[in-house]
Amino acid sequence: MNDDLPSWMSNLSREGGNWDDGRWYDIHLERRMPQAIPMLEELAMALPPLPPGTVVGDLACGTGNAAATVLDAYPQIQLVLLDEDPDLLSIAHEKIQRMTREVEPLRVSVPTDGEPLPGGPYDLVVASLALHAIVGHDVDAAEAESRYELLFRSIKEPLRPGGHCIIGDHVGTLPLFAQLKAMERAGFTDVDCAWRQDDFFVAGGRVGE
Ligand SMILES: C[S@@+](CC[C@H](N)C(=O)[O-])C[C@H]1O[C@@H](n2cnc3c(N)ncnc32)[C@H](O)[C@@H]1O
Repeated sequence: MNDDLPSWMSNLSREGGNWDDGRWYDIHLERRMPQAIPMLEELAMALPPLPPGTVVGDLACGTGNAAATVLDAYPQIQLVLLDEDPDLLSIAHEKIQRMTREVEPLRVSVPTDGEPLPGGPYDLVVASLALHAIVGHDVDAAEAESRYELLFRSIKEPLRPGGHCIIGDHVGTLPLFAQLKAMERAGFTDVDCAWRQDDFFVAGGRVGE
């Protein structure tokens, strides 16, 4: 018997769940957060065509669902998986290794001070349900705006000229328009929103040549 099992009751409350457990996360995501699935599909549809060898970073990859979605669309890319949680990173690595050998897991705490994201240079950085988690839930609007800007600077730094950052997320920490403005202040061009449904969206920008 395992005394460490969490009580099943956390599954039964409205706001409950075991979101930190990667296996639980993967089997519950579609039921508990249905818009996350079209969000990932729309993220793939928002991408420019990715030639073989394109280097893609999945920022705060968790169990690697964004990486898997992009890889499914473009099987010849190279992936770098970044996350600070070793258990989630290991699930992501295992998942992506079933699809390609071109994958590197990087256990890192994503910098929040504008320092470059490690693992580059990248042609594309994707981030799904990630930026709000890095910025944090309990920050006021002014602080969130400045944290988003610094985060976008970190992402932009290792992107090659012409590289893209495409994010899928939900608003809550910061409204979408403010996130787009933060992306522009960080130096991205072609900043726009590709899709939005309720509080979920796909948006992105590009580094000038
Ligand atoms: C809600 S999950 C999203 C995971 C995944 N991208 C997805 O779409 O399912 C947020 C992820 O951000 C990671 N994370 C949060 N802050 C981080 C930081 N500063 N550096 C690296 N990873 C971070 C967590 O470990 C977690 O895997």
